[in-house]
Amino acid sequence: MKPTLPPLLIIDDEKNMRLSLEAVMLDEGYRVRSVESAEQALNLLQAEEFFMVITDARLSGMSGYELLDKVRHRRPDLPILIITAYATPKLAVEAIRAGAIDYLAKPFAPEELLHAVARCAERHRLLQDNASLRAYATEPYALDKIIGQSSKMEELRQLIRTVAPTQATVLILGESGTGKELIAGALHRHSQRHDRNYVRINCAAIPETLLESELFGHEKGAFTGALRQKPGRVEEADGGTIFLDEIGDMSRPLQAKLLRFLEDGTFTRVGGNEELRVSVRLIAATNSDIVLSIQHGQFREDLFHRLNVVQFRPPPLRERGDDIVLLAQHFLRQYSVAMNKPVRSLSKAAIAKLSSHHWPGNVRELRNVIERAVILETTGEIRPESLPDFKIEGRLRKDGAITLPPSQSLDEFLSGHEREAILGALDQNHFSLTKAAEQLKISRHALRYRMQRLNINTDQAYDEEPASSSV
Ligand SMILES: Nc1ncnc2c1ncn2[C@@H]1O[C@H](COP(=O)(O)OP(=O)(O)OP(=O)(O)O)[C@@H](O)[C@H]1O
Ligand SMILES: [Mg+2]
Repeated sequence: MKPTLPPLLIIDDEKNMRLSLEAVMLDEGYRVRSVESAEQALNLLQAEEFFMVITDARLSGMSGYELLDKVRHRRPDLPILIITAYATPKLAVEAIRAGAIDYLAKPFAPEELLHAVARCAERHRLLQDNASLRAYATEPYALDKIIGQSSKMEELRQLIRTVAPTQATVLILGESGTGKELIAGALHRHSQRHDRNYVRINCAAIPETLLESELFGHEKGAFTGALRQKPGRVEEADGGTIFLDEIGDMSRPLQAKLLRFLEDGTFTRVGGNEELRVSVRLIAATNSDIVLSIQHGQFREDLFHRLNVVQFRPPPLRERGDDIVLLAQHFLRQYSVAMNKPVRSLSKAAIAKLSSHHWPGNVRELRNVIERAVILETTGEIRPESLPDFKIEGRLRKDGAITLPPSQSLDEFLSGHEREAILGALDQNHFSLTKAAEQLKISRHALRYRMQRLNINTDQAYDEEPASSSV
């Protein structure tokens, strides 16, 4: 059944349990080795290849947790599942944090175990298939928090590995919830600055007037309320990394100061004269359209170029293919353990529903959807009923998924909307072609052409010459 798959290793000091686990696995076509102690397991692991380990938590001699700890260091890519009779949510969370891939409480249904094993088998196959994934599996932990095996996510992880050790300023652009913060964290953790401070500032969350003093500090008496001197966060980040989230919301005067700071690391505290200098690496992120902000004069173009030394663009979730399911399973594992609910898998129908959604809120939305589903679910697998009605939510959100009515072609659908938008603009502008065109951000000529094409009656519309001659 699974010819290329190495065996799995079972460790249990209770003979009956060991034999029944073996039997279940052999029935499914897995190859199995089993031993009764963690010590024996460690010896075997040195000599042979396994695709996963299933161990009882309590063993005579070294415990399953100690084994987990030892194996994690030697073979970080080897999945370990822990079985225990003494399940508490706290222990479960600890096991997962310590690196167990899954955690089963006795008694459990064989299917629960088989699901977990099948996932590990699948993972092993994927790792075998992909040399770059193999390389990634042996890396330190931060990057493997970024879930996703789509080629775009692979490229992204590769770029993190390449850029992290450099001093380059990084700009991360992406929709809300695509993982910008995760990328920033991974960049710091994989940099040479990883043992120094990582300071994170959300520029949108701090009032404009306070952001400058937050970033660069202030002297005593610099402004009302500045009762004592306060060092800036850039000083706290000296030697490390500063992450400026939502940089698009920074005021222009502060942008100028930041630009100067980026040139040579110098700055003055608010109300101070002394020039200070630090060594800080800057990572900035925004989910707003920065090019538009530059065009509108809200964001300095020179600062943009200075930040944009390396650019990351985490793709929207809807463009990541099977990663949706992978991430859903990841969050499912997390929440079922955290809530200690035996919801182990996603039904086929639930997978189909998740895969067809547009995900305007990206990974964060998916995480929330799975959390909610784990709370609501009363069976062992997530059914579509426990997922939100995405159609309704899509219609509520203007950027939600658009579903074509079955009777229409794409052209008919688009023409319908175009017609509505044009009629709406004409109506709001009392049928002035110039003003309607302005509102629609097209030329008068283009508007006329489109109206003719859509058979919109032009009788009522009037076409006065605009004040400026360029149209
Ligand atoms: N590839 C991923 N693997 C695992 N978890 C992810 C991934 N991408 C995002 N997440 C999780 O999704 C949530 C949102 O991610 P994050 O906060 O990094 O998004 P963001 O791009 O900074 O969003 P915003 O623009 O709204 O601040 C977090 O809980 C994060 O851990
Ligand atoms: Mg964020």
